This record gives sequence, C-alpha cells and structure tokens, in this order.
Amino acid sequence: MQSRRRLIRFAHRGASALAPENTFSAFREAAEHGCDWIETDVRLTSDLVPVLIHDERVDRTTGARGAVGKMTLRQVRRLDAGSWFGHRFRGERIPTLDEALEWSRHRCGLNLEMKEEDRREEAIHRVIRSVAAHAAADRVLFSSFRAEDLLRIRAALPRVRLGWLVSRTSRGLKPLDRRAGLFALHPKDSLVTPRLVRRCLRMGLAVHVWVVNRPERLAQLEAMGVRGVMTDDPRVFSP
Ligand code: G3P
Ligand code: MG
Repeated sequence: MQSRRRLIRFAHRGASALAPENTFSAFREAAEHGCDWIETDVRLTSDLVPVLIHDERVDRTTGARGAVGKMTLRQVRRLDAGSWFGHRFRGERIPTLDEALEWSRHRCGLNLEMKEEDRREEAIHRVIRSVAAHAAADRVLFSSFRAEDLLRIRAALPRVRLGWLVSRTSRGLKPLDRRAGLFALHPKDSLVTPRLVRRCLRMGLAVHVWVVNRPERLAQLEAMGVRGVMTDDPRVFSP
C-alpha cells in the first residue's frame, strides 16, 4: 500500500511557541523539529535593509519603543529580541533577510511574508535583490495578501514559489493564478472548507493553512487534502 504524503511543515515566525518569534533561536528550533519551511515577516529599516520582524513597532518583542521603519539597521541590531520570551534568550538579535537566506540554504526553505506597508515597492525590490543574490530562488516561497506584490516577484524571479495569503475570501484566485503562476493558496484556518481545498487541487495549487496548533485540526485538514500547515509549535506534528 502506498503511504500518504507527509504534511509539509511550516514553522510560523519560526517555532514561535518554543523560542522568541522571528529569531535564529526560533528558526533553529524549527529545523531541529523537522520543519520544511520557516515562515517569517519582512519589514524595512529606515536605511532600507530588510529585517525579520512581525510588528510595525519593536515594543512587543524587544522592550524598546519605536517603529522599525524609523530605526537604522544599527539601532535595530542593538535591540534585545529575546528577553521578552525568556531570560535564556537574552541578547537574541533581529535577523536581516540576507542572514536568514544564508542560514536557510542547507536547512529549511524560507517563506517570506511581506509586511512592510509604507515603502512597499522598495521592500519588494530589496527582497528581489536579496533572493537573487543568494541564488536560493527554489528555496524561497514568497507570500502576500496583495496580488500586485506577487506579480512583481513573478516578473523578476521566475523560480520563486508564490503563495497568495487570504483571510476572508479567495475571490479572484483563478485570474491571479493565470497571471502570477501561483504555487499555493495560503488561507487562514477559519476560511478552509473541503470545497475550497478541492477547488485548489483541481487548479493544481497546494493549500498551506495558517495557523494550526491543535493535532485534531491538523488531522481534519490533512483529510481534506491540505498539503501544508503553519504552526507555532512543531511538536503538534508528533503528539
Ligand atoms: O503567513 C501567514 C501568517 O503569518 C499571517 O499572519 O500576522 O502571523 O503574519 P501573521
Ligand atoms: Mg506572517
């Protein structure tokens, strides 16, 4: 009997239940727990360097105050992105995109989610530049809620996988897929139905769901034909 394909494992912001989100500690935990991809969030510093942080401000994850986009890379690098999560993570730094691309080369793939709002075009341009420089296009999955981001990436990086993020509706999926050549739909868990999954499968698209932290839900999604899930806690894959 042929065994079923294993679900593809994404660590959401790295293994963010086990280590401070979007840091190398969380990325390492993800790799050690057998994750295939690390999902992480991209923003720009004031001197236009792509760094990995979820929030617009550094307050929640560093204990300092201010907007990432108003700080230089030098200022961002001085922040402690670990202590808020636990003493043993003290001194953890906010990674740059280039560092993460380099790190991921022989480990997990990187799912880059575009979070930068104000300087969106510039941010996309910087991501394209970094990914091209690291020659790691087949190890990158770029995801965005915005169709125009996906189209720009596709035009510049033909080999990068694209995932369209949706949280309320997937209307417009077919035309976007025709234009951008999507690899996957990335729906919020609450949007996932057997019908949506069947539709994607018919179109040849994978479905990667965010964020799933309960083993029961994992099993339901797998039964529907979902191909991958993002979790904060990769231990969910081996309860
Ligand atoms: O990539 C999916 C997921 O990360 C979107 O939510 O807010 O955690 O970036 P958020
Ligand atoms: Mg994200």
